[in-house]
Amino acid sequence: HAADAHRTDLMTITRHVLNEQSKHPESKGDFTILLSHIVLGCKFVCSAVNKAGLAKLIGLAGETNVQGEEQKKLDVLSNEVFVKALISSGRTCVLVSEEDEEATFVDPSLRGKYCVVFDPLDGSSNIDCGVSIGTIFGIYMVKDKDNVSLDDVLQPGKHMVAAGYCMYGSSCTLVLSTGNGVNGFTLDPSLGEFILTHPDIKIPKRGKLYSVNEGNAKNWDTPTAKFVEKCKFPEDGSSPKSLRYIGSMVADVHRTLLYGGIFLYPADKKSPNGKLRVLYEVFPMSFLMEQAGGQAFTGEQRALDLVPTKIHQRSPVFLGSYDDVEEIVALYAAEE
Ligand code: AHG
Ligand code: MN
Ligand code: MN
Ligand code: MN
Repeated sequence: HAADAHRTDLMTITRHVLNEQSKHPESKGDFTILLSHIVLGCKFVCSAVNKAGLAKLIGLAGETNVQGEEQKKLDVLSNEVFVKALISSGRTCVLVSEEDEEATFVDPSLRGKYCVVFDPLDGSSNIDCGVSIGTIFGIYMVKDKDNVSLDDVLQPGKHMVAAGYCMYGSSCTLVLSTGNGVNGFTLDPSLGEFILTHPDIKIPKRGKLYSVNEGNAKNWDTPTAKFVEKCKFPEDGSSPKSLRYIGSMVADVHRTLLYGGIFLYPADKKSPNGKLRVLYEVFPMSFLMEQAGGQAFTGEQRALDLVPTKIHQRSPVFLGSYDDVEEIVALYAAEE
C-alpha cells in the first residue's frame, strides 16, 4: 500500500529527468542522453575513488595543470573519463575542464547542442587521506551549433540550463538541478542506479555554520573580516556560529545546502580574485544554491550575473542561506 510505495517505486535519476523533460515537449531526449553519460562518468570515478588506496591510484601523476597545481593520478583519470564519456554521448560541442588548459571542441561528426564545464575531481588535496571529494559540472546550450566558439562557454552562470555535483563520500550522492529546483540521488551500488533520496532540496533561510579557510584571515578585506568576526562574536546576543571547513568545495557546499549556513572563499591580498574557478566551481554551486532558495554573491554582484572572459577565471564567492549571504551583501555595500 501507499506507505511502502517508496520501497518499490524506484525513482532513478534517469526516470526523474525523463519526467522533468516531458514538461518540455520540444526536448527530444538529448539532455537525458547527455545526463546518462555524466552519470556513467560519476559511477566510474566513484568506483575508482573507493579503491584508490588499494589500486595504487593515490599520489601524484607527475604533471602540473594550468592552475599550477600538481595533478594527482585521480585528477588525470577522472578528467579522461569525463572527456571521453561526454564526447561519446554525441550531445556536446564544447568542453571546459579544470584539468585542460584549452577548451575541447568536439569533432562535428559527434557534435551535439550542449556545452559542459566541469571540475572532474574537486578537493584533490583530500584524496590521499580519504576525505570526501567530488565532481562538479554545469551545462550551457550552444548558441549556434554550426558556429561554435569560446563564447558558448563564456556565458554568465544564469544562462546555464543545468548544474550539479557528485560527492564521493560515505555514500555517492549526486545533486542536480535542471532549473526546476534541486534533487539529490544516492547511488545504490547493488543496483548501479542513482535513486532519488533528497527530493526538492531547500536550504534553510539562515544557518548556524560558517565555512571558510581561517588560515587566510591575515589577508582578508574588511567586509569579510567583519563578517567572520560577527560569526564568532555576535553583537545581537545570539550564540556564535560553528566553523565547519573540509577543504573540498563539494563536501562543504553539500553540508551547507542540507544544514544551512554560509560557505565563503573570499578574495585576499595574495589572490584578489579568490581561488575558486568561475565556470566549473562558482557557477554550478551558485546555480544550485539559488534553485534551493539560497543565494550566491561575489563581493560585487550576484554570482550568476558575472560574465566570464577567460575559461579558468577565478572569483571570490559567498554562498548559502539567503539571510546569511544578505549580511555579507550589506557589509560590502557599506564599504562602497
Ligand atoms: P580542486 O581540488 O578541484 O583544485 O579544488 C580545490 C578547491 C575547493 O575544492 C576547495 O573549496 C578549495 O580548493 C580549498 O582551498 P584551500 O585549501 O585554499 O582552503
Ligand atoms: Mn585542482
Ligand atoms: Mn575544485
Ligand atoms: Mn579539481
